[in-house]
Amino acid sequence: MSIKIAGTGSYIPERILTNADLEKMVDTNDEWIRTRTGISERHLAAPDQVTSDLGAEACRKALEAAGVDASEVGAVIVATCTPDYTFPSTAANIHRKLQLNKAFCFDLSAACCGFLSVLETACGIMMANKKYRYVLAVGAEKLSTIVNWDDRSTCILFGDGAGAVLLENVDDGDNTGLIASDMNTDGNWSEILKLPGGGSVNPPSERTIAEHLHGIHMQGQETFKLAVNAIVSACRTVESEAGISIRDDVKLVIPHQANIRIIQAVAKRLDITDEQVIVNINRYGNTSAASIAICFDEAVRTGRLQRGDLALLASFGSGLVWGAQLIRY
Ligand SMILES: CC(C)(COP(=O)(O)OP(=O)(O)OC[C@H]1O[C@@H](n2cnc3c(N)ncnc32)[C@H](O)[C@@H]1OP(=O)(O)O)[C@@H](O)C(=O)NCCC(=O)NCCS
Repeated sequence: MSIKIAGTGSYIPERILTNADLEKMVDTNDEWIRTRTGISERHLAAPDQVTSDLGAEACRKALEAAGVDASEVGAVIVATCTPDYTFPSTAANIHRKLQLNKAFCFDLSAACCGFLSVLETACGIMMANKKYRYVLAVGAEKLSTIVNWDDRSTCILFGDGAGAVLLENVDDGDNTGLIASDMNTDGNWSEILKLPGGGSVNPPSERTIAEHLHGIHMQGQETFKLAVNAIVSACRTVESEAGISIRDDVKLVIPHQANIRIIQAVAKRLDITDEQVIVNINRYGNTSAASIAICFDEAVRTGRLQRGDLALLASFGSGLVWGAQLIRY
């Protein structure tokens, strides 16, 4: 039994916010942002576009690419830290918008590691007993709603977008899908990257608004240092478990797009070439749970990933949660 990636899709909202635009909003400049992060611009959803709209559009494209009708989808899992509501789930809203009438739908919260967590859940658990033939794995974010636009150290980093892959249970024995994975959490680091307001610790109040607790809080340097080591370690674990060489056997490494310097440091430590790494952070910034799904779709649509190729997905984010997954496309 194999799991095939039957189709991929992504959606990037139209409006572009450039570094020059940010110069007018906070005390920053294009050169600082580009050299420290690799970001030139990011896209922002329109005021009336919500996370499920972005996710639904990515799903629609994935279904179209696979030639599969919405009525055939058995489940939808959405990774997001910017859901439409706390409940109902964003996945349920996508169910309504695309009329996925047979689909069991739920959201999953693992911040920037959300899309890998969806794949782990879908491939490792839900599809393992063949109950579901088609599962939509989605990462969708409207991060512009949780960015503190007065905080220059974080507002420059994030953007909106969504990506989706349609997973299919197949019998053809091609050994495609999730080959090996290494997923981890260390809750002891939960303070360095969080959205403090709105949950049971700090329910919404005048105080939480006055103290900007509904925006992203991040210790950037600490996060940076932990990210590189964690991603490399997960990649090496997957490499040894799968019995492959990342440098020689993996066509494309698809890292979470948080900072170009993190990506370059990881690439150097993995001893891989520039052609082996996909980078689009310059155009989209950090789209959290959506970033790897968007990259995956771009890799497929630009031909950088062909049927049979090995892709190594690697991510890191709040929790802390980090991991790597080897996928045969
Ligand atoms: C956020 C990040 C880009 C900051 O870069 P950095 O090199 O660590 O910068 P620092 O925080 O040390 O700040 C250096 C200086 O730049 C200033 N600065 C911060 N943001 C700035 C901005 N947008 N424009 C200009 N200057 C800025 C700081 O105030 C500081 O000034 P000081 O030296 O006078 O105090 C970087 O730490 C990072 O990307 N970390 C990882 C974040 C991440 O990946 N998060 C998501 C994980 S999923």
